[in-house]
Amino acid sequence: MRKQIAAANWKMNLTYQQAEELIDQILNADISLKAHQSAVFAVPFPYLIMAKSELADAKSYFVAAQNCYTKRSGAFTGEVSAEMLQSIGISYCVLGHSERREYFGEGNAMLAEKINICLSYNITPIFCCGEPLTIREAGTQNSYVEQQLKESLYHLSADQLKKIVIAYEPIWAIGTGKTATTEQAQEMHAHLRQVLSKQYGDVANEISILYGGSVKANNAKELFACPDVDGGLVGGASLIAADFIQIMRSLK
Ligand code: PGA
Repeated sequence: MRKQIAAANWKMNLTYQQAEELIDQILNADISLKAHQSAVFAVPFPYLIMAKSELADAKSYFVAAQNCYTKRSGAFTGEVSAEMLQSIGISYCVLGHSERREYFGEGNAMLAEKINICLSYNITPIFCCGEPLTIREAGTQNSYVEQQLKESLYHLSADQLKKIVIAYEPIWAIGTGKTATTEQAQEMHAHLRQVLSKQYGDVANEISILYGGSVKANNAKELFACPDVDGGLVGGASLIAADFIQIMRSLK
């Protein structure tokens, strides 16, 4: 079975103490993940090392950064490189979240560079894509998201693509409490897999495609049950231990 992933995206939330407590509460729940399941915690930069050491003994638990820069090193005040992440043992990095695209001007070409640099340091990108409400209302979401994939991923070889996780996050569903229906999620995930298979063949069946956008404790099971939905990227509900525990337990 494809890897199923419950990924927490804490965004810019929680103090250090709250972050430690949240991880402790989740670890205390003692969830035994199956071999094909993982939990990933995308935490703010200052908490990466703490999260990494708290989760060191927890099998199938990983820590992710929420972003990194395109360049290897140098005079880029305030930025964090993939090499730095690798040097503290970080194995995942969220890239292209819609908030980064919207507030920090990240476009598909820049994200292609970020993907390359992460892969070159053995960091698995969690590549986010998804359409705004206007596109959904116009009914052109399939080609919109396909274009995001083309411009950021299609330069990769099939072997490189295998190392990517994709998160489909319709922007109208992020932080709004408005979740895509299971039909909408499944339809887009199947479309993405089909688009990838046109370009890469069978490899497309190995790529985990997560759904994001108001995943909650009470809808995760239904969403994750869709054949092409391989888990979720979870914002708000990942800040509440009981909710994220329930979401982890909803993985198929
Ligand atoms: P949400 O955020 O679960 O709060 O909608 C998801 C995300 O932005 O990754």
